[in-house]
Amino acid sequence: MSHHRSKPSDATHLGLKEVEHALPAAWYYDPAQYANEMQGIWQKSWLYVCHASALAEPLSYRTMEIGDQNIVVIRGSDGRLRGFHNACRHRGSILCTEREGKLSSKLMVCPYHQWSYAADDGRLVRTTSFAEPAGFEKADYPLFPVAVGEWRGCIFIHLDPDAAWSPERTFNRTPENMKNYPLEDLVVGHTWRTVMDCNWKTFWENFNECLHCPNIHPELGDLVPLFQRRIVNFRDEPGWEADVGSEDPKRSGGLKKGAETWSMDYSAQGKVFENLSEEDHARGYTYATSLPSVFVGAYPDHIRAVRLLPLGPEQTELVSEWLFLPETLNAPDYDIRNVVDFGILVMQQDIDACDLNQRGLHAAPLKQGVLMPEEYYVKSFQDWVRRKLSG
Ligand code: FES
Ligand SMILES: [Fe+2]
Repeated sequence: MSHHRSKPSDATHLGLKEVEHALPAAWYYDPAQYANEMQGIWQKSWLYVCHASALAEPLSYRTMEIGDQNIVVIRGSDGRLRGFHNACRHRGSILCTEREGKLSSKLMVCPYHQWSYAADDGRLVRTTSFAEPAGFEKADYPLFPVAVGEWRGCIFIHLDPDAAWSPERTFNRTPENMKNYPLEDLVVGHTWRTVMDCNWKTFWENFNECLHCPNIHPELGDLVPLFQRRIVNFRDEPGWEADVGSEDPKRSGGLKKGAETWSMDYSAQGKVFENLSEEDHARGYTYATSLPSVFVGAYPDHIRAVRLLPLGPEQTELVSEWLFLPETLNAPDYDIRNVVDFGILVMQQDIDACDLNQRGLHAAPLKQGVLMPEEYYVKSFQDWVRRKLSG
C-alpha cells in the first residue's frame, strides 16, 4: 500500500505538510532544561490530582509532589476540597507523610513538634510550647494555600493560589465529546502506579501519534483497525474523502465489528453506558487531555484517567485510575480485570517504547528528531511546550 507513504499533495488532510523539527534532544535529559520545565510548565499549569470519588469522605486527603513542591489536597469536614503546601509553618516539616489517607480529627497535626492546623481552612490552631513569644500571632501562620478546581469529578490543583480555574481552557482536546459519558458519577475501581524511565515529554509525544501502533500494539490494532494504518483520524491521509461513510472501520475509524469496548475479549459484559449516542458508539472511544498532567480516555463501559508527574529528567510517575458506575463495579458478573488488563497491556507497550526512545535520545550527534505528516499532534504538543516556556 505504497500510496499511504506517498508525498502528501492534498491540502484537506490533517497531516503536516512541511518538514518540522522536533524539540532539541537534550531537552529530554538535561537537568537545567528539566528545571526550566518544572518552573515554566508544571508550576504554572493546572495539574490533575485524582477523581473526586477517591476523595469522597470528609477529612480524606491525597499528597502529590510537583518536583520539590509537596502538596496536600483534603476534603474538609464541610465537604469542600482545599489544597495546601504540605509544609508546617513552624520549621517546615512535611505534615501528611502518606500518599493518601484520612485524618482522625478535624486537625492536621505536624509529626515533628505537633503544631495543629484546621483541616477546613489551614488556620494554625495550636502550638505546643509552654508559652508563645511576645508578638507571635497564630493568625500569621496558616498553611500556604494552593488553588483547587474540579471538572466533572476530575480534581485539579494549581500552585498559584490565585490561578483562575477554567475547565474549558484546561482540557485541550475534545472534552465536549465526553458529554454523554457519566464521568462525574463514576467511582475508582482500580488504580495502577508505575515509574517510567523516560522524560514526561517522551510519554506525551508517544501518546500523540499512532505511527507506532501496528508494531507496538498488535492487540489494539486488531480492536481499532484504523490504527493499523498508523493514523488516529481517517482524515490524516490525502484522499480521505473517499472514506466518508465507509462501513469498514479500517477506513472510517471506530471499533472492529462486534467489539463493544476496550477490553481483553472486546465485550462490555452488558454494562455499556446508557446515554451514549450513535456517534459515541461509532467513535468507539474519546479522549480529553489536560497538558501536562492527564489524559482521560472514555470507553463504552468505563473511563480511564492517566496522570503523569515528573520525578526527574528521565523518570516519570504514571498513575492510572479505572472508573466505573457503582452498579457496574458491584455487579457480581462484571469482571473489571477485562478492561484493567487491556489498559495495562497497552500502557506497558507504550512505556516500553518510551524507554527505547529515551535511551536513544542521548546519541551525541542527534540534535533533534524530525516529524512526519501523521505527527501533527506531536507538533502541537511541542508548540505548546515552546509557548509555555517562552512565557
Ligand atoms: S516543624 Fe511542624 S511543629 Fe515543628
Ligand atoms: Fe501507543
